[in-house]
Amino acid sequence: RYAELFAGVGGFRLALDGLGGRCVFASEIDPCAAATYERNFGDAPLGDITEVPDEDLPAHDLLTAGFPCQSFSRSGEQRGLGDARGDLFFEIVRVAPAALLLENVPNLLRVDNGHALHIIVHALTRAGYHCRLKKKNTRSF
Ligand SMILES: C[S@@+](CC[C@H](N)C(=O)[O-])C[C@H]1O[C@@H](n2cnc3c(N)ncnc32)[C@H](O)[C@@H]1O
Repeated sequence: RYAELFAGVGGFRLALDGLGGRCVFASEIDPCAAATYERNFGDAPLGDITEVPDEDLPAHDLLTAGFPCQSFSRSGEQRGLGDARGDLFFEIVRVAPAALLLENVPNLLRVDNGHALHIIVHALTRAGYHCRLKKKNTRSF
């Protein structure tokens, strides 16, 4: 059983359903992405995750999140976690099931001289997770 935050059009869902996973919750704020998601999978994600109370989240074993990358990306102002969009990372820690599968841009490793990544890993470690970081080139898949 998995939940996906920042679901977009459902990239994680496509992969996990293929591996036998069952999606029990999805959240996506953008109406066009949500409509595409619904067309792809037959159910509509809930909207803004910051407005979903803890008790509305069904039990799940794995949480996936391609959390918003604008403030980490080299294409933006690189304000890291000091930006309302970067700050959405903490929604992941709030939900916090047994395991997390997170994805972002490679510049997350460097933005704010590595400070943003340090805070993220620290927050996850404090929440009881062991973190493994991997940099992947999608050309290989
Ligand atoms: C990097 S994209 C995720 C892409 C996704 N992994 C996919 O396969 O399409 C981040 C997504 O987070 C969504 N988002 C941003 N703020 C949100 C919020 N407060 N609640 C829910 N979704 C949000 C954006 O609309 C965007 O689609």
